[in-house]
Amino acid sequence: MKPKSKDTPAITPELKARREKARLKKQKQRALDDDSAFEKALKVLEKTAETNPALERVMLAGMGELMSRYLPIPPVKPPFAYVGSKSRYAHLIIKRLEDSIKEVRDTLVYCEPFAGSLASFLAVADTLKAKGIRRVILNDFNPHLINFYRMAEAHPDLLIEEINSIEERFIESFPIEYSLKMGATIPHEDRPALEDNVHAFFKDHRTALQHDESLNNIQRAGLIYFVLQHGFNGLYTESQKGNIGTAFGWKKKRIFLNEITEKIYGLHFVFNSFQTEFTNKHFRDLDWLQDTFFYLDPPYIESGKDYLACGFGLDEQKELLESVQASGAPFLYSNNNHVFLRDLLDESVTVETFARKNIVAGSGEARSDDKEELLAGRTSAWPFNLQNGKWLEIPLKAMTKER
Ligand SMILES: C[S@@+](CC[C@H](N)C(=O)[O-])C[C@H]1O[C@@H](n2cnc3c(N)ncnc32)[C@H](O)[C@@H]1O
Repeated sequence: MKPKSKDTPAITPELKARREKARLKKQKQRALDDDSAFEKALKVLEKTAETNPALERVMLAGMGELMSRYLPIPPVKPPFAYVGSKSRYAHLIIKRLEDSIKEVRDTLVYCEPFAGSLASFLAVADTLKAKGIRRVILNDFNPHLINFYRMAEAHPDLLIEEINSIEERFIESFPIEYSLKMGATIPHEDRPALEDNVHAFFKDHRTALQHDESLNNIQRAGLIYFVLQHGFNGLYTESQKGNIGTAFGWKKKRIFLNEITEKIYGLHFVFNSFQTEFTNKHFRDLDWLQDTFFYLDPPYIESGKDYLACGFGLDEQKELLESVQASGAPFLYSNNNHVFLRDLLDESVTVETFARKNIVAGSGEARSDDKEELLAGRTSAWPFNLQNGKWLEIPLKAMTKER
């Protein structure tokens, strides 16, 4: 036998344990990287369960990670109706996203700086998962929305209980004959008599959300849900002083416990299907990293409505496009098809336009500028390609620019 060199460390039990740990870690990573790992693991599990039932439970726990990687995300609806929500255009965004993310690495991150009601994120969540994206960053400058998502991720049960309790107290503010139907079924002429109770309840809770500093985060999350559910048209607005201006909407139906449970658990499942991070920043404070794919859905240009007291004017529209274009990160961007924005787009950005469904009836007639949506992007399918985790510019033969 060859004598051991002086430098070879003695194989102590600690060293053995460390090596075994490293080997298992490698094995686990290999299993996660291997697409057939799930099936193989299932076979092993079946065999183990036959021979040693006591091991089955341990194996099952270890398989949780694998299962969550392979289970598809079921359709989950946005938690509330929301002005500017992209649910109607989701199919187009999904298509572009699929074209864009041809090849991904584990480090690739998906980020929505203007997450709103999550209609766009929820529409693409299953595609993101299927493409292997593990990290998601959901940002919005509205602190109430972000707090709501954080609570749905961390404490779904408490949140459901809180929303249900606010709703039950709200129902009690209606005379008994209305308490079950509530909403659009209440005749116009009967509404003024209900205002003292119903409006007062809505306004008090809206004020509490903003000014009651003793509330905890679950209570705040319950209140924003209540305000958006019973507010007029899902329109979250703030006055210039920063007060929530969302008005009461008679059309909204009451919220039933089973619906809330389905929604909140749906969100909880989606958030936990990724490593999800929620941030509450102004877009200018985000890191525009190159391993991150951005879907940018800012407030529409010249929509005449501001979501937040800080407003979103032409300067912000310009700053946003300049930041993302300068960063080199891959992105998709949607807004009105407006000349001000088109002039800000770099040569390398691909632009598409399509009719806004709600304005142009499917007649195919001529459409004016502001009645069209604009979808612009710089993605792996277009002028960028991902290699070794980095986005590299590659010469593109057929780069189009339809302006
Ligand atoms: C068009 S909506 C996004 C809709 C979202 N994609 C959806 O599907 O519901 C624009 C969002 O931008 C947010 N917002 C406005 N100004 C912002 C800013 N300066 N930074 C980050 N978010 C902002 C608003 O709160 C609003 O939720």
